[in-house]
Amino acid sequence: MPKRLLILGSTGSIGTQALDIVSRSAELEVVGLSAANSWELLVEQASTLGVGRVALSDASAAARASEQWIDGEVLTGPEGLIELVVSSGADLVLNALVGSAGLGPTVSALAEGIDLALANKESLVVGGELVAALAEATGARLIPVDSEHSALHQLIGIEAAPVATGATRAGTVDRLLLTASGGPFRGHTVEQLRDVTVAQALVHPTWSMGAKITVDSATLMNKGLELIEAHHLFGFSYDRIDVVVHPQSIIHGMVTLCDGAALAHMGYPDMRVPIAYALHYPDRVDVPVPALDLAAIGQLDFAPVDTQAFACLDLARAAARAGGTAPCVLNAANEVAVHAFLSERLPFLGIAAVIQEALDELGSQPVHSFDALYDADREARRVTEEAVLARA
Ligand SMILES: NC(=O)c1ccc[n+]([C@@H]2O[C@H](COP(=O)([O-])OP(=O)(O)OC[C@H]3O[C@@H](n4cnc5c(N)ncnc54)[C@H](OP(=O)(O)O)[C@@H]3O)[C@@H](O)[C@H]2O)c1
Repeated sequence: MPKRLLILGSTGSIGTQALDIVSRSAELEVVGLSAANSWELLVEQASTLGVGRVALSDASAAARASEQWIDGEVLTGPEGLIELVVSSGADLVLNALVGSAGLGPTVSALAEGIDLALANKESLVVGGELVAALAEATGARLIPVDSEHSALHQLIGIEAAPVATGATRAGTVDRLLLTASGGPFRGHTVEQLRDVTVAQALVHPTWSMGAKITVDSATLMNKGLELIEAHHLFGFSYDRIDVVVHPQSIIHGMVTLCDGAALAHMGYPDMRVPIAYALHYPDRVDVPVPALDLAAIGQLDFAPVDTQAFACLDLARAAARAGGTAPCVLNAANEVAVHAFLSERLPFLGIAAVIQEALDELGSQPVHSFDALYDADREARRVTEEAVLARA
């Protein structure tokens, strides 16, 4: 029996690469797809795969799709996305949405006891404690798609977050290391970052990704979000998770063991590798990537993060340590700031500045429910929009 797979965000960078993996496998059957606005591509994907149900979060895109596509049903709005998850009968949901919009579907899938392949790191940044507790309560597996976390998952051999039961015996891993390419502005000083453009920020040196994560990589906020993601996935305290700049993106993650040995996960930067791992877990399948040729690569470089020029990593560490609603505020403020930067309403250095303002103004409140997170998200967006406007 093939594994029944629901892909949320199938029109994006991760979504389309996931469909490439699906096209190479008889073990995966797609039972549902979703997008925000890209209705034409979504309908094309559904028709090709014989999928009968899709969701489009944008109402007018959903209306256009319903007019044009008579072979299936189109759900709409955030509720439509949840209905798609709950009614899918899926064995595995791939959450490849971007931003905190991914939290609702993450919660729905885990609450239904459906295994989750998680690309949407924002779900864990915003609601880490509650999401991890939900996975543990229902027994649903949380399998990371992010390349660094996929690397750590493979190195640690974790079965279900956050309890280590797999290949590396619990207690033997001392520290986790996440690598960062450094993005397009690696080596830039604060002065040089002052006038960088959107077009420059969108050219990533090693990975081809959606616009939001590409800007997050340029500010290094992406590594901050990944730090929080790693904490919730693997249950390591923040002072045991390190970050190092590694421009070639060949080593994706490393664990240091209690006896001083270090295990690294290596490979060319191609997201189809961690996507295939997550979709087929615990099996492994062939992925058409070249075998690693270290002699051809010649040299691997490493450097500490310049936290003065790239303030977002420290902002994320501080919000992570504060806990409560602070990571949710950090994430919402970042989404607003990145959007403002992409629409040329905020300079590159303004991103960290307005996030800092939102964190200073809103601080951290305890989180007892998902509603507290939705309130904090809304408030952080309001405060950050005001901070952006004040700088215009
Ligand atoms: N791309 C990578 O290589 C990569 C690597 C590691 C982790 N990730 C993580 O994976 C996630 C997806 O990244 P991506 O680069 O694939 O993003 P992307 O290319 O922008 O695609 C996002 C997908 O989500 C849909 N979407 C966007 N906003 C939505 C909303 N509010 N409600 C419902 N659907 C929405 C988009 O639909 P439309 O096409 O209609 O806009 C699209 O299908 C992010 O959390 C990112 O951090 C990505």
